[in-house]
Amino acid sequence: MKKILLVDDDKDLSESLANLFDPEKFNFSFLQDGTDVCRFVDEHKDIDLVMLDVNLPSLSGLEVLKQIKDRNDKLPIIVISGFVSTDDAMEAMREGAFEYLTKPFQIEKLIETVNKACGFSTSMKNPFSSSPAREESTEMVVDEIVGQSPEIVEIAKLIGQVAKSDAAVLIIGESGTGKELVARAVHRNSKRHANSFLSVNCAALPETLLESELFGHEKGAFTGAYFKRIGKFEQTDGGTLFLDEIADMSMLTQSKLLRVLQDKTFQRVGGTESLTADVRIVAATNKSLVQCMKEGSFRVDLFYRLKVVSIYIPPLRERRVDIPLLVNHFCKKFATQLNQPIRHVSKKALQMLTKYQWPGNVRELENNIQNALVMSKNDTLQPEDFPVFNEDKSKLQIDISSLKDDYTETFKRLIDPIMPKLIVNSPGQIFQFLEAAFERAVISSCLKHFDGNQVKTSETLGISRNTLRDRISRYEIY
Ligand SMILES: Nc1ncnc2c1ncn2[C@@H]1O[C@H](COP(=O)(O)OP(=O)(O)OP(=O)(O)O)[C@@H](O)[C@H]1O
Ligand SMILES: [Mg+2]
Repeated sequence: MKKILLVDDDKDLSESLANLFDPEKFNFSFLQDGTDVCRFVDEHKDIDLVMLDVNLPSLSGLEVLKQIKDRNDKLPIIVISGFVSTDDAMEAMREGAFEYLTKPFQIEKLIETVNKACGFSTSMKNPFSSSPAREESTEMVVDEIVGQSPEIVEIAKLIGQVAKSDAAVLIIGESGTGKELVARAVHRNSKRHANSFLSVNCAALPETLLESELFGHEKGAFTGAYFKRIGKFEQTDGGTLFLDEIADMSMLTQSKLLRVLQDKTFQRVGGTESLTADVRIVAATNKSLVQCMKEGSFRVDLFYRLKVVSIYIPPLRERRVDIPLLVNHFCKKFATQLNQPIRHVSKKALQMLTKYQWPGNVRELENNIQNALVMSKNDTLQPEDFPVFNEDKSKLQIDISSLKDDYTETFKRLIDPIMPKLIVNSPGQIFQFLEAAFERAVISSCLKHFDGNQVKTSETLGISRNTLRDRISRYEIY
């Protein structure tokens, strides 16, 4: 017989929940208030599982969770919440909950979880061995991870679970999905939260500078190294170092990073002194490291070191239920920043925002809302207020009469409205894309003018016939 204590102020719900279980195998006790739970647990040492609602009249379920864990960290506890809260999910898992479930229950999942938890009740170890001062951890402010999709809740739970370990975390997700946000949440939930969180973008710097950024350098280590410099590893001692766009790190730097991860020692560039730093690594990538390993541009051994825990953030279009919440969140956030009253989004606009593909993910959504709130005078934001739905034809049309010889201005007017989208969708490639598009457009237009006559076209454009032929085949111009 398994003994379960169910703490929920909703008596009816508690009873119907208990009725899902075979009374010959499960014995339920009920409490409606958090204040009595600890006494009950003290008096009933043989209890196998506690199920705790978060919303209790006098004491929050999360508070009760901590109190029980302080007395008996082996007792499995399932935290139940009336609505999805990523903060609660993180906190519950960080404090050692066995599971975090939300109402309404999926009955199968509930039964499975209860069975598992009871199975663990005799052998379960507290997943987090050391417990630092609790007061500290409750004071933490967590950057809010907004969302209610099962994927986001799982991510929040995982962040809570890895909080008390120093395991390296690899965050994988398309651009703009929230990798840095998650990295910060990992840090803030960890015992390192009082120390620094620093980030290095591995794609932004050439090899030597990246190495010096990470490990520091000695005076005179390379041209331009006029002073000794302390690297991010030393600066982050005791904290968390976020290595963004890790796939872009050169093989040489990868091998140096591997050495730090293996034996915690490193040297400044141009130095001989062996230094140590206690740093937790959280890395992120929007490229497939598996593909990079296949191509030989990423070290397999480093990959396994970095992905002790991996967190995959799905693209926004695969978790559209999060969109309305995010829209709401950003409307509030920017209203505060812009010192405006909160404005909302029309039903039609919200529908369109929810349906859109969001290739630039949450960041693109955020930019659109910010843009709409800055530019629009509407009390309720309408579809045309959002740049994504407003490749505004009128903005793209050029007033031919105003065209003098100032082509720069002409092109600028064409490019201005699409630049925000390009920045989101094609960072690092914008120039290449625009240049190709420009060549293609100019050549097509001139060819059309001369009815496809290549001699006249090349002469008029002032390029050789070879160049023209090359572009026609390269861009498949007909
Ligand atoms: N779930 C979320 N809740 C609230 N804000 C979010 C969420 N996901 C992303 N954001 C916001 O979207 C923006 C982009 O997130 P972030 O910078 O973490 O993404 P990223 O994956 O690191 O992007 P990139 O690959 O472009 O560097 C940030 O302003 C972040 O606060
Ligand atoms: Mg980022």
